[in-house]
Amino acid sequence: MAEYLVTGGCGFVGSHLAEALIAGGDRVVVLDNLSSGKRENLPPGARLVEGDVADPEAVAQAIRGCAGVYHLAGAASVAWCNENWHAGHLTNQTGTVILLETAARAGRLPVVYISSAAIYGDAGEGRVDEGRAARPLTAYGADKYGSELHGRIAWSVHGVPTVGLRPFNIYGPRQDPASAYSGVISIFHDRLARGLPVTIFGDGQQTRDFVFVEDVIRFLLAAMERAPGLAGQVFNVCTGRPTTLLDLVGTLARLHGRTPEILHAAPRLGDIRHSLGDPARAEAALGVSAGMRLDEGLSRLRDGR
Ligand code: UD1
Repeated sequence: MAEYLVTGGCGFVGSHLAEALIAGGDRVVVLDNLSSGKRENLPPGARLVEGDVADPEAVAQAIRGCAGVYHLAGAASVAWCNENWHAGHLTNQTGTVILLETAARAGRLPVVYISSAAIYGDAGEGRVDEGRAARPLTAYGADKYGSELHGRIAWSVHGVPTVGLRPFNIYGPRQDPASAYSGVISIFHDRLARGLPVTIFGDGQQTRDFVFVEDVIRFLLAAMERAPGLAGQVFNVCTGRPTTLLDLVGTLARLHGRTPEILHAAPRLGDIRHSLGDPARAEAALGVSAGMRLDEGLSRLRDGR
């Protein structure tokens, strides 16, 4: 039993992780500025330090007594970061550097951090593996890639064992559908449930590799467990199965028993056409895989579990 810091622990993925850690007998400190995370997401037993990852004092206070750090705080929306370039950079990259420096000073604590598949940019229709060159297309992707570079330096220069994860498109219960910047599944699911039309940016033939949040948590836990042997490395978190947005709408329509009206709008700036990951290297190194089928995961979402 140990204590872990989870940054962004009031958010979608962070709150699932905090819950899993507590269920496994660990203690959890959450650092969250509640900008998109919600206090009610905090699982019973977790301690909240309300503060920003870009505030060194808040990070230093939160990390005290911890055995390791899961760094999940960040602005998750590519589109929001296009419109809020500097603010996104402060959270997504400066926040990571502050966190890594604090972990170094606190005794070289292991850090598992969330990067993104967005670092690959548009890699075509095939599966991308971790050997593919990073070519981010947006500020969001650039900041995540910058965070990875600092994550490697944290290890090579400062001896902080870091493991980076590159999730593809995460979905599941508690992903907030409330803003236009939310993940597409949360928005479409919410609109279908309320009998409203859905808007597709572009022709709907763009593909994503949708990965269920519970699968992502298993990657996070395994990365911390194996951090000493995997320090400085980064891994995909994906299923290896592509889904077009139109197929996504079709599956949701079947599950909800209603076909939504589809509105089309112009593609988003910097939107990636195809995003599909190769899970092989991560599965071998971490000993876990993302097994949840999309229709199963979507029905879990529909049933709120
Ligand atoms: C997503 C994640 C990002 C993650 C990245 C990994 C969110 C909000 N973004 O970015 O954190 O790092 O995957 O690759 O979770 N779309 C519509 N209609 C809508 C909303 C979206 O057509 O109402 C389209 C978008 O234009 C895009 C696709 O759906 O083509 C997915 O968009 P989105 O869910 O915002 O995620 P990504 O930009 O892929």
